[in-house]
Parts: sequence; C-alpha cells; structure tokens
Amino acid sequence: MRVLHVIGARPNLMKAAPVFRALAKQPRAQQSLVHTGQHYDANMSGAFFPQLGIPEPDVNLRVGSGSHARQTAEIMTRFEPVVRQWKPDIVLVYGDVNSTLAASLVCAKLLIPVGHVEAGLRSFDRAMPEEINRLLTDQIAHLLFTPSEDGDANLLREGIVPAKIYRVGNVMIDSLVDLLPKAIACKLDSLPERYALITLHRASNVDDLQTLKRILGALVEINTQLSVLFPVHPRTRQRIAEWGLKTGELCLLEPIPYIEFLALQRRAMVIITDSGGVQEESTYLGVPCLTLRENTERPITVSLGTNTLVGQDSKKLSSELSNILAGKVKKGVVPPLWDGHAGERIAEILCRCFG
Ligand code: UD1
Repeated sequence: MRVLHVIGARPNLMKAAPVFRALAKQPRAQQSLVHTGQHYDANMSGAFFPQLGIPEPDVNLRVGSGSHARQTAEIMTRFEPVVRQWKPDIVLVYGDVNSTLAASLVCAKLLIPVGHVEAGLRSFDRAMPEEINRLLTDQIAHLLFTPSEDGDANLLREGIVPAKIYRVGNVMIDSLVDLLPKAIACKLDSLPERYALITLHRASNVDDLQTLKRILGALVEINTQLSVLFPVHPRTRQRIAEWGLKTGELCLLEPIPYIEFLALQRRAMVIITDSGGVQEESTYLGVPCLTLRENTERPITVSLGTNTLVGQDSKKLSSELSNILAGKVKKGVVPPLWDGHAGERIAEILCRCFG
C-alpha cells in the first residue's frame, strides 16, 4: 500500500504525524510526505518535525505565499507530476487549508483516491476560505475520517454515502496526548503566575484595519488586569506593521514550537483565540477558551468543552473574562474518541481498504 501525505500549513503537521507514525508500524505500508510550502518560516513548519517524531518531507513544492488563486493553482501545478511519478494508492489530506483542497483536486482528476482527515466540520460560514476548502474536499474525497458525530451528520446532509464515512476521533488530540508529558516537564522561564494566552490569525480578524485595531485595543485593556502573552502569527505581524498599530505593553512573541506552546496552554488562566486547533486543545486541557469568532466548525468544543464564542464583541469578551477572573469558569468534558488513538484507527482502515 502506497500512501502519500500532503501537508502545507502548521496545523497539518500535528494532524499528519500520528497517522504517519501509526502507518510506519504496518509492514506493508510505504509512505511519502509532500510539503506544499504554503508555510515556509522555520518557526511555522521546520521546527515541528523533530518534536512530532516524523521525518522531513521527501518533497517540498515551495509554493510560498500568494493570493488564494495563485497559491492553489501553484500547488496543483507542482503537485500533479509528483503524484504521477509516485503513483500512490491513496493520498491523505488534512484539515481545511488551501493545500488540502489543491491536492484533492489534483487527485480527483487523476482518479487517485483521497482520504480526508478531519472531514465533516462545518462553520456554515462560506465567507471563510477554510469552509470552501472543507466543503469541496469532502465532496471529492473517497474516505472521510471524521473527528466527532457532528461531522458525520454534516456529511450525510450533504449527500455523502455512509459507506465513505469513518468516525475515527481527533488526530490533533493524538499529538497532544503523545506530547503532553513533555509539555508538563517543559521548563518555561520567567512566566507570569497568571496569564492570558492569545493567538490571532483569521482573515476576518486581521485583514480588516478597524477590526484588528479593536481587538488589539481590547487586549491592551486586558493586559492591565492579567498579563497577556501573544505569540504572533506572521500574517498578523505583517498587518500590525503595515498599519502601524499600537500594541502598548503587550508581550509579543514569535510563533512558538509545539511542545512549548502546549506547556503555555495548560498553564494559562484563559486562552483567547481564533484558531480551530487551539479551541480543541484547550477543551482537552480543561482551560477556558474565549473564541474571537461568530461561529465555529468545532461546535463540540462549545457544547461539551470549555469554549465560549465571543465574536468581535469587546463587551462580551470583557464580561466573560471577568467571570473567569472571578473563578466562574466553564467546566467541560473531553469529547468521545479524543483518546490519542485516532491515527491508529485510520491506519487500520487504510490497511483494510488498500492493504
Ligand atoms: C493558513 C490557513 C488557515 C490556518 C493557518 C494556520 C488557508 C486558507 N488558511 O492561514 O486555515 O488556520 O494557515 O497558521 O489555507 N506567512 C509567513 N510565513 C509563513 C507562512 C505565512 O510570513 O511561513 C505570511 C505571509 O505573509 C502570508 C500570510 O502569512 O501571505 C498568510 O499565510 P497563508 O498560508 O496564506 O495563510 P494563513 O493565514 O497562515
């Protein structure tokens, strides 16, 4: 069985690693990792491979940044010859980034089966580029590996036949479970006793001047009551610089490697984010999470977990934060099948189908 994994952006790495490692234990599986180069800074990509226990990619397509059309087209153009040459039995794509959709389209036209890991999630907000990537990838994938029941329901509603859907659990949580002991042991120097951890990169929050200005203003205000630690995504850093926005006394950090970031998450008093993965990780860790989005494709983090959607409403953010500071925190449970074994379940299914 020849399995080709496509990764491109930071969150893909934590999702692909457990599947890659589980397949490495299967004697009949041959694997190759192709990196599209959508993310290329060392601290957005390269630094993660040794921590996650996966090899450097066999191929890097080096597409880099660009408009959605250019990035998607460039990935497709450069990926097609790799697929033709390597002749995989199945191509695995992860999550909802441009690399996910671009690789899936190439395979659909070459009649190569695609397995979509983290299928079925929906925000029902088609203004999000990721929602378009999710919807289209799921329509052309052959095997759809869902993290939770809502994923199955969404796919069935969209006319996907039940035989293609496999509820396997959450692969991103596999990486967390695997590396949590290292995160617990991780020494972080000069951390404040209590702090809020921030991540912010969604186009809807950072590509509009007034919105970003308002969010930064709210964070500066929070920083007067509770230290704010803010590892800044390159996209956000670029906008802050371009518009000369004020960040006051905020502690702006470079993007942080995976284990250290997990360590920061588990010790945080609250996490404020617009990331998908961080909503899940905070639910698993039982840390309150305030999400700066109007919707989420991961509703289970709200219904079962510690997540609360605050949108772009500074008043709601401030009142939810006051509750947390007063000790009134949302208690959550870990959703079913978020147990560290999703990658193994995917490997077993692939062996049954292609082995
Ligand atoms: C992408 C995904 C998003 C995911 C996020 C995780 C899409 C549509 N978006 O968003 O779903 O949550 O990755 O980080 O696929 N840049 C660098 N160095 C890098 C990468 C990016 O400087 O290594 C800068 C560039 O200026 C680039 C910008 O960040 O133009 C945006 O990068 P891009 O890959 O287009 O989208 P992300 O915002 O990272």
